[in-house]
Amino acid sequence: MNKQKLIKKFDKQSAKYEESTRKRMLGVWRNRLLQGVQGDVLEIAVGAGANFHIYDMDKVRLTAADFSPMMLQRARRLAEEMHFQVHFIECDIEALDFPEHSFDCVVSTLSLCGYEDPEMVLRNISKWCKPGGRVFLLEHGLGKNPLLKSAQRLLNPVARKMSGCHWDRNIEQIVQRSELKIERIERYWNGMVHLIWARS
Ligand SMILES: C[S@@+](CC[C@H](N)C(=O)[O-])C[C@H]1O[C@@H](n2cnc3c(N)ncnc32)[C@H](O)[C@@H]1O
Repeated sequence: MNKQKLIKKFDKQSAKYEESTRKRMLGVWRNRLLQGVQGDVLEIAVGAGANFHIYDMDKVRLTAADFSPMMLQRARRLAEEMHFQVHFIECDIEALDFPEHSFDCVVSTLSLCGYEDPEMVLRNISKWCKPGGRVFLLEHGLGKNPLLKSAQRLLNPVARKMSGCHWDRNIEQIVQRSELKIERIERYWNGMVHLIWARS
């Protein structure tokens, strides 16, 4: 899908994401995943800032990137309300670059479903992280049950068109094939929700 169309799609969903941020949706998983995030942190595809409440503001220097101006506007507003200093970047993550070893931690929640080339994004995450740096992923993808997987594959074109997300990604395999060293994977909701702790 054309990137401009995709940006518009996410712009339109930004109010919903802000609402779910305020209601702390998926809070249990976000909390579980993001303990220990500290130092120079990059959050890719930050959306409306759903993870801001979880970060320890005294320990995190956050750079947050997203290509949707409306998502960023909402994330900026939340950061201001919280008096949380965040360096925001409006950009396409797939065209973004940082010097090698820029960050202690990289966070991605519900973002690998959106990219054309998630493998390339993971390669970049490895590069941007300091050696041994930590990577925290909360991603949805194919479940474990064969019937469920077939349904996800069948519905994928509609899901992509409506929400901008792919439903048919084998997240565990994509991360396993990357250069990241996986420390722990937990899967929930029939295996569709993945919590992954890794290091560069
Ligand atoms: C499903 S939302 C998740 C938002 C947030 N991370 C969260 O956990 O609520 C996906 C986000 O990825 C952003 N996104 C998708 N593809 C992107 C890309 N290529 N570059 C930058 N942002 C992207 C969208 O604008 C949206 O904010």
